[in-house]
Amino acid sequence: MRRRQFLGTTLAGVAGLIVGCRDSADDGVRSAAPASALSEGQPLRALVPLANESAVAGEFVATLSAAPGPAQLLPGAPTPMLLYNGSAPGPLIELHEGQRVALTLDNGLEHETTIHWHGLPVPSAQDGNPIDPVAAGARRVYEYELPAGSAGTYWYHPHPHEATAAQVASGLAGALIVRAGDDPLAHLPEVTLFITGVKLDGARQIAPDNAVDWSIGRQGELLLINGGRLPVHTVRPGTTERWRIVNATAARHLRLALEGHTLTLVGTDGGLLGAPAAGLQEILLAPAQRIEVLVTAAAAPEARYRLRALRYETDFLGLGSYVDEDLLTLATTGEAPATAASIPAALRPIADLGVATVRQHVELSEITGLCRRNGATSAFVINGRIFDPARVDLVSVVGRVELWDIVNNTGMAHPFHVHGTQFQLVSRQVGTVVTPAPYLAWIDTVLVPARHTATIKISQPLPGKRMFHCHILEHEDNCMMGLLDVLPADGR
Ligand code: C2O
Ligand code: CU
Ligand code: CU
Repeated sequence: MRRRQFLGTTLAGVAGLIVGCRDSADDGVRSAAPASALSEGQPLRALVPLANESAVAGEFVATLSAAPGPAQLLPGAPTPMLLYNGSAPGPLIELHEGQRVALTLDNGLEHETTIHWHGLPVPSAQDGNPIDPVAAGARRVYEYELPAGSAGTYWYHPHPHEATAAQVASGLAGALIVRAGDDPLAHLPEVTLFITGVKLDGARQIAPDNAVDWSIGRQGELLLINGGRLPVHTVRPGTTERWRIVNATAARHLRLALEGHTLTLVGTDGGLLGAPAAGLQEILLAPAQRIEVLVTAAAAPEARYRLRALRYETDFLGLGSYVDEDLLTLATTGEAPATAASIPAALRPIADLGVATVRQHVELSEITGLCRRNGATSAFVINGRIFDPARVDLVSVVGRVELWDIVNNTGMAHPFHVHGTQFQLVSRQVGTVVTPAPYLAWIDTVLVPARHTATIKISQPLPGKRMFHCHILEHEDNCMMGLLDVLPADGR
């Protein structure tokens, strides 16, 4: 019997999945982008790895140039976008635990920018925070060392004050993988699926956010995988692959399901689980989240199966609903099935962070009168305040284990993200019903559906200022962010 289990009920919540019938309510916010004109059905593109310029062992040195450039999204005239090293998504950065990393940002944009290493435990001054902008035309080097245990799937994106959504929507984002020396799944072929959205206006330009986008997050984007529309990934029947999937969209919750297959979840934002969770019919991947799944292609030769993002509604004023969409086709060759791959029963140990000594309260709420910038009709804030880069909102201490209750008093789901560390979901609460997390997993973004509370256990390994925010990028730009000041453990 097939087990039906959602990441929604495990890592992301129960009532986040509300099925309804509101097709007509979407019409006003759907994009007019010419979907069929984007070239579809090409072979899945592999992400281009960023070359290491250093010959020194244990060191990774490279440059990421952010600059305007053309992208051939439609036949005819190219679309002006913002690119890292000439491509969208940007190059795939492959790093190793223990490596010393020096990545230069060359800002060829007309605006300030940063590069944020989403989910990585890097020093706060190296994390591309909005309080450390790199001016137009300037360069800076981001330097950090990757600690043991940091292997996982991450991504990088700009994080400039109030302009993150626009820069990401224009093409600036890329995947980053940290590898461990003792990866128990290293024998499996690996595919990275970097999911972005693109929305074009009638003139083939990247459409700016409208008032609805600024209220509930960018709507009507066409989903692209590794920059391609509805690509085809072809494998020998019976092959088991490890897919790393990154949700790099501004606001699209992806309920991923693969026709004719179940998925085996082996990793989350911060890397491998303790043990594989097999037999999943679907997995909910909120904006900014990543998963690692094992996919064993069916034994049937010459068959095709769609990877889909199923209907999802955040149920806010009848907006923010997403219909079923296809993402990719898994096709099998005519070969005889491959022999079954061996999947280890245990992946890596995950220890509970330990006894928490402090409890922090983080309340997401809707507010009138504050922060309706950019034409937004709804404003969302954290603990009743709009983001102020000069104000510290929460204080912590290096190494201190804390519980954070993230209370969502709004009518829509918010993916809540904290910089600087990976944390653990402890439980979810709806009304008086508390559901403990079914297993330990490292995450840096937790989906908090409307009227839910998510309790996380978190400890920051390094001192300095850290952002916490909703990862719907329009919310992050439009006030729904705060500053955490992590003090050194000795109190100095
Ligand atoms: Cu992915 Cu504060 O960011
Ligand atoms: Cu981040
Ligand atoms: Cu939000």
